[in-house]
Amino acid sequence: MASGMAGPARGPGVAGAAGPAGSGIAPGSSLAPASMPATEPLLRLRGISKHFGAVQALYKVDLDLPVGQVTALCGDNGAGKSCLTKTIAGIYQPDGGEIFWEGRQVHIRNPKDAASLGIETVYQDLALADNLDIVQNMFLGRERKRSRVFLDEDAMERDAARTLSSLHVTTVRSIRQPVATLSGGQRQAVAVAKAVMWNSRLVMLDEPTAALGVAQTRMVLDLVKRLKDHGLAVMVISHNLNDVFEVADRIAVLHLGRMVAQDATTAFDRQSVVDYMTTGGSSRGVAGQGRD
Ligand SMILES: Nc1ncnc2c1ncn2[C@@H]1O[C@H](COP(=O)(O)OP(=O)(O)OP(=O)(O)O)[C@@H](O)[C@H]1O
Ligand SMILES: [Mg+2]
Repeated sequence: MASGMAGPARGPGVAGAAGPAGSGIAPGSSLAPASMPATEPLLRLRGISKHFGAVQALYKVDLDLPVGQVTALCGDNGAGKSCLTKTIAGIYQPDGGEIFWEGRQVHIRNPKDAASLGIETVYQDLALADNLDIVQNMFLGRERKRSRVFLDEDAMERDAARTLSSLHVTTVRSIRQPVATLSGGQRQAVAVAKAVMWNSRLVMLDEPTAALGVAQTRMVLDLVKRLKDHGLAVMVISHNLNDVFEVADRIAVLHLGRMVAQDATTAFDRQSVVDYMTTGGSSRGVAGQGRD
């Protein structure tokens, strides 16, 4: 999504927000933990609403995404998960509500504003260019130059390899392999590594394991856990409760555009998540609080 951009330029529309540390892009530097009071989530949404014509896709949604934690965003088809993700990613503008980044109010008016904050979204299929190799994909639109004319292929290879290895992505045979020849899980891994390399602070993954087999799902789930270990905030959209309970520290459930439950994973069991997803409530009494 942010792949066509010429680096994380400071977004003029982001009120009071600094760009990611050192806009002079240092691949891998995003892996340092963010310094911020532990209580303040990296991203805080309050009362976010969005409608499309007569459809109220989001209704006064609150959401916290803390650093170093994986938050699973759950909900049935049409619950508003992708819409919420696109709102955070700057693709949709909310009709109402407030967004806070490290405690400061921001306005994310477009994907460039999101990228300038360090927000990257990984989509299953759209993220990569099939005909390009891994290095070319990871630097697409943000190529390193050796001079005005020549690309610095060695530096790009080194940084791509370093980022992949820091994430323990070891199954790729060659980083000069065209992305078309990768497995689904490897593609997903490259897309995540690309997001991590560009100073990202928050990575959102929309259904990262939906099309993957068992081994590939394992690889992507391990990768998601590694992202949070590197101090990033991670949001994962998933219909798969096995995945959710394996990787998520927190669970947030949308039902018909409303956030009906949001709490630590330990506050839920599988049935209660299913209850919230399908009915908007749960009688099991282990629930997280609805926020509105
Ligand atoms: N661009 C749009 N125009 C009109 N309606 C939209 C648009 N985007 C989303 N919606 C509506 O908003 C609601 C939420 O859609 P959204 O795509 O966010 O659901 P979702 O939770 O991601 O579902 P799924 O699990 O099927 O991907 C749906 O009723 C959908 O029809
Ligand atoms: Mg969706």
